[in-house]
Amino acid sequence: MMGKEEDILSSDQIKKLLLIAVPALVVVLVVTVFLFNRHNTVDLEGPVGEIAANETNSEAWAHYYPAHWDSYQANYANVEKPSHFDTKPYLKTIYAGFGFAQEYNEPRGHVYTIEDILAIDPARKKAGASCFTCKSTQVPETIEKYGAQYYLMTFDDLKDEIVEPIGCLDCHDPKTMKLRLSRPALIDALQRQGRDLDSITNQEMRSLVCAQCHVTYYFEPETKEITFPWDKGIKADQILAYYDEEGFSEWVHPDAGTGLVKPRHAEYETFMNSTHQSAGVACADCHMPYTRIGNKKISSHTWQSPLNNIEESCTTCHRNGTDWLTERVETIQAQVIQSQDLAGNAVVDAINELKVSSAAPQVDQAKLKEAQRLHREAQWYLDFVAVTNGYGFHNPTETINNLSMAIDSAHKSVLLAREARGLE
Ligand code: HEC
Ligand code: HEC
Ligand code: HEC
Ligand code: HEC
Repeated sequence: MMGKEEDILSSDQIKKLLLIAVPALVVVLVVTVFLFNRHNTVDLEGPVGEIAANETNSEAWAHYYPAHWDSYQANYANVEKPSHFDTKPYLKTIYAGFGFAQEYNEPRGHVYTIEDILAIDPARKKAGASCFTCKSTQVPETIEKYGAQYYLMTFDDLKDEIVEPIGCLDCHDPKTMKLRLSRPALIDALQRQGRDLDSITNQEMRSLVCAQCHVTYYFEPETKEITFPWDKGIKADQILAYYDEEGFSEWVHPDAGTGLVKPRHAEYETFMNSTHQSAGVACADCHMPYTRIGNKKISSHTWQSPLNNIEESCTTCHRNGTDWLTERVETIQAQVIQSQDLAGNAVVDAINELKVSSAAPQVDQAKLKEAQRLHREAQWYLDFVAVTNGYGFHNPTETINNLSMAIDSAHKSVLLAREARGLE
C-alpha cells in the first residue's frame, strides 16, 4: 500500500502549500487591483476632517494630500517676473504720477506672492495693508480679526503677521475639500448681483475661485475697502460707466491733467462671455488640467501658462494637435500685441497734445475738458487689455474691440486737444 501512503503524504504537502499560497495569492490580487484603480481614477478621495478649520499653513495639508502638495511645490519653478515696461514702454508715460509708474512686473508662481510684495518699490505700498488681500491665505482670518480696520492699516502694520503665500485654504474647505470662496469682495459683489451663493455649480466654482483675485478692483474712497466695480456689469465699458457715475478717479495725470482710473488683471471679466466660457469651459479646465503625479491622477496645482503642457490643458477637448493649438494662440496674441502697441502710442500722443494745450494761454476750457474725458476713456480701454494676462487669448474678439475703442478715443482726444488751443 505504498501508493496510499504516498497519497496521504502528498495531500498533507498540498495542504501546507495551500496554507501559504492562497493568502499570498489574495495579497497579490488585492495589491494589483488597488494599484490598477489608483492608476485609472482621479484621486478625489482623501482623509478629510482632520485638517484644522482655519489651517493657513499649507504644509499641514500636505500630510493628507501629498500629490497635491508636490504639484503645488512645482510653482517654485515659475520664477520669471519680467517688467511690463520692457515690452510696453508707453506704460511708463501713461501711469505718470501713480505708483505703477515706478515698478510694474508681470506675475509668476502663486508661491512667490509674499516674497514679491515685500520686495516691491515703496511707492506701490502706499495703498496699505490692502495690498496683501490677494497675496496670502491668511487674509480672510486677518480681516475677521481686525474687521473694517484691516483696510485702513498700513503695509508695515501687517508685514510681520502675514507670512504665508496663496495656499489651500484660499480655495478649499478643509473639512470637505469642497471649493469655497474666501474673499469678502467677491462674495459682496455676487450678492449685490442678487446671486444665491448656495446655488453656484461646481463648474462655475472652478472659475470663481480664481475670480477672488484675477479681477479688477478699487479701494472704496472712504473705507479703503477692496470693492469690485461690477454693479453695472463686468465688461470694460460697464465698469467705466460705473466709475464715471461715481465721479471716481484714482489719480490725476501730471502732464495731461486728466483724472484717471486703473484696471487690474481682469482675467475673469475678460474670460466671461468668450467662446470658451459660453461653451461651459472654466479657468481650471486649462490651468488645472488632470495630471499624473507619481501613481496618482489629480487636478494640477501648478498654475502656469497652458502652453507649457498643451497635451494636458487643450487636447482633452481639441483633437487638432499641439502645433495647431500653439499656432492659434500665437496668432491671436501677435495680433493683439500689434493693436495694443498702436493704442499705447495713440494714448501717449493724446497726453503730449493735452500737455501743450493745458499750458496754452487762451485755451478753450470746454474743449480741453472733453479732450481729457476722451483721454480717460482711451487709457481705460488700453490698460484693461494691457494688464490682463494672456494677451487676448481669453477673449480675442472682445480684446480687439477694446483696443479699437482705445485707438478711436485717443485720436479724437488728440484732435480736440489741438482744436482747444486754436489749431485745426
Ligand atoms: C487657487 C485655488 C486652489 C488652491 C490654492 C488649491 N486648490 Fe485644490 N483644487 C482647486 C480646484 C479648482 C480643484 C478642482 C475641484 C473640482 O473640480 O471639483 C481642486 C481640487 C483639489 C482636490 C480634489 C482632487 C483633485 O485633484 O481634483 C484636492 C484633494 C485638493 N485640491 C487639494 C489641495 C491642497 C492640498 C492645496 C494646498 C497645497 C490646494 N488644493 C490648493 C483649487 C485650488
Ligand atoms: C488669493 C489670490 C489668488 C487666487 C485665489 C488665484 N490667484 Fe493666480 N495669482 C495670484 C497672484 C497675486 C499671482 C502673481 C504672483 C506673483 O507674481 O508673485 C498669480 C499668478 C497666477 C499665474 C501665473 C502667471 C504667470 O505669469 O506665470 C497663473 C497662471 C494663475 N495665477 C492662475 C490662477 C488660476 C487659474 C486660479 C484659480 C484656479 C488662480 N490663479 C487663483 C493670485 C491669486
Ligand atoms: C481655454 C483655455 C483657457 C481658459 C479657460 C483660461 N485660460 Fe488663462 N490662459 C490660457 C492661455 C492659452 C494663456 C496664454 C499663455 C501664454 O501666453 O503663455 C493664458 C494665460 C493666463 C495667465 C497668464 C499666465 C502666463 O504665464 O502668461 C493667467 C494669470 C490666466 N491665464 C488666468 C486665467 C483665469 C483666471 C481664467 C478664468 C477666468 C483663465 N485663465 C481661463 C488659456 C486659458
Ligand atoms: C473643456 C474643453 C476645452 C478645453 C480644455 C479647451 N478648449 Fe478650446 N474650445 C472648446 C470649445 C467647446 C470651443 C468652441 C468651438 C468648438 O466647439 O470647437 C473651443 C474653441 C477654441 C478656439 C476657437 C475659438 C476662439 O476663441 O478663438 C481655439 C483657438 C481654442 N479653442 C484653443 C484652445 C487652446 C489653445 C486650449 C488650451 C490652452 C483650449 N482651447 C482648451 C473647448 C475647450
